[in-house]
Amino acid sequence: MIATEKKKAGCAVIGYGGMGGWHTRHLLESDVGYLCGIWDIDPAKCELAKQNGIRAYASEAELLADPDISVVTIATPNDVHPEIAIRALRAGKNVISEKPVCLSVKELEEVIAVSKETGKLFTVHQNRRWDCDFLMMKEAYHCGKLGKIFEVESRIQGSRGVPGDWRGHKPHGGGMIYDWGVHLIDQMLQIIDDKKIKSVYCRCENITNKEVDDGFRLDIIFEDDVVGHVEVGTHHFIALPRFYMTGTEGAAIIEDWRDRTRCIRNLDRTEYEVKPVVTAAGMTKTMAPRAEDTMETFYIERPESDVHDYYRNFIAATRGECEQLVTHKQMLRVLRVMESAFESHRTGAAVPFCD
Ligand SMILES: NC(=O)c1ccc[n+]([C@@H]2O[C@H](COP(=O)([O-])OP(=O)(O)OC[C@H]3O[C@@H](n4cnc5c(N)ncnc54)[C@H](O)[C@@H]3O)[C@@H](O)[C@H]2O)c1
Repeated sequence: MIATEKKKAGCAVIGYGGMGGWHTRHLLESDVGYLCGIWDIDPAKCELAKQNGIRAYASEAELLADPDISVVTIATPNDVHPEIAIRALRAGKNVISEKPVCLSVKELEEVIAVSKETGKLFTVHQNRRWDCDFLMMKEAYHCGKLGKIFEVESRIQGSRGVPGDWRGHKPHGGGMIYDWGVHLIDQMLQIIDDKKIKSVYCRCENITNKEVDDGFRLDIIFEDDVVGHVEVGTHHFIALPRFYMTGTEGAAIIEDWRDRTRCIRNLDRTEYEVKPVVTAAGMTKTMAPRAEDTMETFYIERPESDVHDYYRNFIAATRGECEQLVTHKQMLRVLRVMESAFESHRTGAAVPFCD
């Protein structure tokens, strides 16, 4: 039987801010879930939900006691994800937590233990696994035309600093590693999915915010000396390309996340005539552009992608029809990389990673 012929699953959202609003709108058009309502500690947000025609429960306890609800999505600030997840799991609900799932591996292990004990599913909303730029880079990594890939660079750079809300404060789990970082790290581990991590090196930035990182440069060093470079900046008035990948026989680039992927493949290493570039201090052949007839350009087109597949998968998993797509093992690995990144920044050294 296909999903649309089945009874939809009752869903509720805790936290009705920016992302809670996204989840409610998403569920209102979902073919696998229907929205039962929301809860937010801010009465103004509950009032807003009612104005939008959405039921606002009188308390978190009332929401968790509603037997129609099978899935609870947590879209609160980062620091309260685990405590709400544990209460929801114990109330017999399956739980989707917004990212970052928790602020430490220890917290995550506690929630996973409750998920196992209650037999209810628990996962994190890694919606950026449906981003076209990421999907194209995964394809480029595995396409076999670029030789041995030795570096993948993933960057997001803005110029407006850390948002002025809870994201600027440490106790709430603010900062860019917990914000954009968790998406880009998860994507990188999904792209370089055939190698173990050997070590992690990270430098955080505090250019516009002294309390939390407002940017970072992270190297995830995999076996065979493959490097996944992840960078987030919030004070960059010129942004570098979104993705860049280099291999022994070619390279791939996405300049802007709305672009397709441009790939260059080397056809002939032997260039018989290299035209040197003249610089003020002399000529260089080493760094001169390659002769065009030794290179081939090809494109990876943007794929079809439907982020509704995230809830489709999770709700099917709650019914025992498949495995949840974002697994506990993946969630723990991403969080371990993040913890190692913080440690590396603190110590100034690369942190060995036992994968
Ligand atoms: N996956 C994504 O693409 C994506 C994008 C943006 C935000 N997020 C994540 O979503 C979460 C929420 O971010 P946001 O931008 O919506 O923040 P926000 O500040 O806009 O909204 C948070 C809401 O949670 C409410 N809240 C706080 N504590 C609560 C509690 N204990 N119980 C109930 N409600 C509570 C607040 O009143 C507020 O309305 C964060 O974890 C963030 O990292 C994910």
